[in-house]
This record gives sequence, C-alpha cells and structure tokens, in this order.
Amino acid sequence: MATYIVLLGPPGVGKGTQAENLAAQTGLIHISSGDLFRENIKNQTELGRLAKSFMDKGELVPDDVTVAMVKDRLARPDCKAGAILDGFPRTPVQAEALSRLLAGFKGDVNFVPFINADPRVLIERLSDRWICRTQGHIYNIKSNPPRVAGRCDLDGSELYQRDDDKAGTVTNRIKVYAEQTAPLIAYYRGQNKLVEIDGTQPIEKVTDALLSVIRKGQAGMSWSK
Ligand code: AP5
Ligand code: MG
Repeated sequence: MATYIVLLGPPGVGKGTQAENLAAQTGLIHISSGDLFRENIKNQTELGRLAKSFMDKGELVPDDVTVAMVKDRLARPDCKAGAILDGFPRTPVQAEALSRLLAGFKGDVNFVPFINADPRVLIERLSDRWICRTQGHIYNIKSNPPRVAGRCDLDGSELYQRDDDKAGTVTNRIKVYAEQTAPLIAYYRGQNKLVEIDGTQPIEKVTDALLSVIRKGQAGMSWSK
C-alpha cells in the first residue's frame, strides 16, 4: 500500500526543507507544486508563463491547471510507493481532486502534518532564504547557511533568491494562505489525519517530530527504506 503525506503550512514554515529530509529518510518521492511551476518557468513552457503571472503577485495558480500538473507527476512510476506532497493541495477543490486521484491508485492521504509558525518568523525566514539554481536545495543565511557563501553544498551551483520572496509579495502570499489554504486545517482535522507540529523548533527537531508521527502511524505499511 502506498503512503501519501501532505505537508500543510504557511509560506516559509519549512515544508520544502522538511520534505527533502523526509524523502532522504523514507525513500518517498518529494513533490513540490511550487518547484514544478518553477521548472516550467525555467523551461519557458506555456504552463510556466501562465503560472508566473500568478506567482509574481503571490496569488494561487488556478486549480484546474495545478491539479492536472500534479496528477501527471503522481502517475509516474517513481511514485508507486507514494509521495510527500509539499504545497499541494492548497484549496478545498484541490484536496477533493487529490482524494479522487489517489482513490484511482487505490490509495488515500495517510498523514497531514501541519507545520506552523507566526507570520513574523515566516517573513524573516523568507528574506534570509537562498535556493540552489540547479536542484532547488534550500538554505538560510542565518539558520542553515551553505559552507561556501553563494554556493550549494551538494552540487556547487549558484544560490539565488526567489522573485516571490520580495517583502510585498510575501505579505500577500501569507494573506492568500490564510484565506484559501487554512480551511484545509479543519478539512483534514475532520478526517482525523491532521497532526500539529511546532515549526519554530530547529530544523532537525521538526524532522524528528515528523518522523515520529509517521512511524507511529506506519505499522503495517511498507517503505522502500
Ligand atoms: P511554493 O513554492 O509552494 O511556496 P510556499 O508555499 O509559499 O512556501 P515556500 O516554498 O516559500 O516555503 P516552505 O514552507 O517550503 O519553506 P522552506 O523549507 O523553503 O509556492 C510558490 C507559488 O507557487 C505560490 O505562491 C503559488 O503562486 C504557486 N503554487 C504552488 N503550489 C500551488 C498550488 N497547489 N495551487 C496553486 N498555486 C500554487 O524554508 C523557508 C526558509 O526557512 C529557508 O531559508 C529554510 O532554510 C528556513 N527554515 C526552514 N525550516 C526552518 C526551521 N525549523 N528553523 C529555522 N529556519 C528554517
Ligand atoms: Mg517550498
């Protein structure tokens, strides 16, 4: 039986950081809808052009194209054992679509860790974030600096700051999260899948908390690692 984990939480709380750590520990594939859009922007696809027009304003990309993109990714063979979903679903419409999609694979969302922190913490983290140009590895000049300034520890590529991490766009992303994504907290709590995690702890402590939640609920499920 495949395992599907949805990481829920506001912009900058550490979803991508934790998804990378969990993927390394569990062997499950990390799927970030934001990374998929950024890949499309880099490759100058039609989807990339559409997504950029929303992302630059800190608005959500429309549900239909987002669902189609994630559906395509989840159908690939490397997701057979399941996936760690980061940034998807982000609206009740997307959550319903995911549930239908996984039912088609004879699966379901197993866990929804909800990582949370105050807007003040989120804004500071995003202004200090740097990302690796080739593979999207995530750094922070204060909490998780690279060994060599401006270079990724893992592949040596250049680090950059995301266009949507500008102060005004970050404020709107947090507002959009509160209005359109936060309703998923009650949605998944109602399904008994939500587990709250304090995102203000150091990165390793958050990873430990996530692994313990997953392992506790994991009896009888098979992982690749
Ligand atoms: P997306 O890329 O998903 O961005 P986001 O949700 O706004 O979240 P971030 O990636 O900014 O933060 P994160 O939680 O991953 O934090 P990170 O680990 O990097 O989406 C971008 C845009 O794409 C959206 O605005 C929308 O337009 C579009 N989009 C994407 N998905 C969509 C969807 N489903 N539907 C519609 N539109 C969609 O960490 C942040 C920083 O903090 C880093 O520097 C990190 O090193 C540091 N850090 C992490 N954890 C800690 C810690 N515990 N302590 C100290 N520092 C930490
Ligand atoms: Mg992210």
